[in-house]
Amino acid sequence: MKKILVICASYRTYSNSEILAASFMEGAKSAGHEVKKFTLRNKLVRPCRACDLCYHNGKPCVIEDDMEELYTEIDWADIVVMASPLYYFGFPAQLKAIIDRLYAFDVQAKLSKNTQSLIDHDKSYILIMTAAADRAGIFDLVKQHAHQIFSEWFRWRNLGTIFVSGIVASGDIVNHPAMEEAKKLGASLK
Ligand SMILES: Cc1cc2nc3c(=O)[nH]c(=O)nc-3n(C[C@H](O)[C@H](O)[C@H](O)COP(=O)(O)O)c2cc1C
Repeated sequence: MKKILVICASYRTYSNSEILAASFMEGAKSAGHEVKKFTLRNKLVRPCRACDLCYHNGKPCVIEDDMEELYTEIDWADIVVMASPLYYFGFPAQLKAIIDRLYAFDVQAKLSKNTQSLIDHDKSYILIMTAAADRAGIFDLVKQHAHQIFSEWFRWRNLGTIFVSGIVASGDIVNHPAMEEAKKLGASLK
């Protein structure tokens, strides 16, 4: 049984990436995994200030906002799932803010003269994204970006990615074959 945290990044109600994540969660729960969802809508995670005060007060970050809860949830999870819309070929600001706030683990590494991030490497990740445009290569940059951050820098294991293009209005994803793909991915996790 794995502990799975699903971070839903879209602020939009009836969000496509969130609907897709729900299908993934259904599959994961059916396979007996413990699944928690953290929706960024109505949450506040401020950008990293580069104050380098990480861990100065015993906590990863001195900024008091909803990232405090997310540090605990990420720490809890074996698998971190990010479900997000594509914004200008990359991650939306609200998801990038979370990634940047994980910089606390890099500062911790710097303080201990370690050359690699001290984030817990014993985790896996899954990326679920939707985009409006329906043309080849639309996810190329974000794929490369995600690989460099999560696989290479954090050394998290990639357990799968679902990228769906041609999804424009809220709820467009509902009858898309990717819904089944997401459910299967969740159900296939060991
Ligand atoms: C600020 C903004 C930027 C976007 N940038 C892109 C883009 O670069 N490429 C694209 O295909 N769609 C883009 N979109 C469309 C969304 O990625 C698409 O509608 C997605 O399915 C929304 O997912 P959601 O319903 O989970 O929010 C953008 C939408 C917004 C609001």
